[in-house]
Amino acid sequence: MPEFHVRPLRSSDFDRVLWLERELFGAGAWTYGMLADELAALGRWYIVATVDEPGSIGPDPVIGYAGLWFDGDDAQVMTIGVARAFQRSGVGRLLLDELIAHARKLKANAVLLEVRVDNEPALAMYRRSGFEVLAVRKRYYQPENKDAYTMRLDLRSEPRAAADDGDAA
Ligand SMILES: CC(C)(COP(=O)(O)OP(=O)(O)OC[C@H]1O[C@@H](n2cnc3c(N)ncnc32)[C@H](O)[C@@H]1OP(=O)(O)O)[C@@H](O)C(=O)NCCC(=O)NCCS
Repeated sequence: MPEFHVRPLRSSDFDRVLWLERELFGAGAWTYGMLADELAALGRWYIVATVDEPGSIGPDPVIGYAGLWFDGDDAQVMTIGVARAFQRSGVGRLLLDELIAHARKLKANAVLLEVRVDNEPALAMYRRSGFEVLAVRKRYYQPENKDAYTMRLDLRSEPRAAADDGDAA
């Protein structure tokens, strides 16, 4: 079994992250400019997942990425993605756990996110981590014209000890 690790996203990861964006989101993928603007924005925290045996997707070990925005009250999952060849191996959960641990460290009240209503793998992952559906945002995803669920993980009701968990930073 390959081993997976998480570390902060570096500028040298840009090309690989953009390649993964296109693989996972097609026409909706972020461009170089969008990614650069996003990373330069206030309160962002981005990480990548690496594998010790890249194998099927070439020599670059970056096989997943995820990002969080903290506005001083709540944290928002900005993106999360795992290379198709490495999906269903626990990498998505590893990245999401790191985002949640970081949000706890920042003392966020909650973690929020949007997800397409028909994105079954992502919905299952978020539910499994305790997120609950708050509302539906009609036609949130363009140009696909697809609805989104807004989901929320309440961190305030969690045991105090959880706030002291470590994370990748
Ligand atoms: C969503 C995504 C990040 C999950 O990554 P992953 O590495 O495959 O997820 P994991 O292997 O860590 O699985 C975590 C949990 O998610 C759920 N899950 C993941 N893929 C699933 C699938 N295809 N069908 C059903 N449940 C799935 C399961 O509950 C799983 O837990 P389990 O393995 O104990 O059953 C990945 O499918 C992906 O990159 N999708 C494309 C990009 C995307 O849609 N991002 C989310 C935008 S909101």
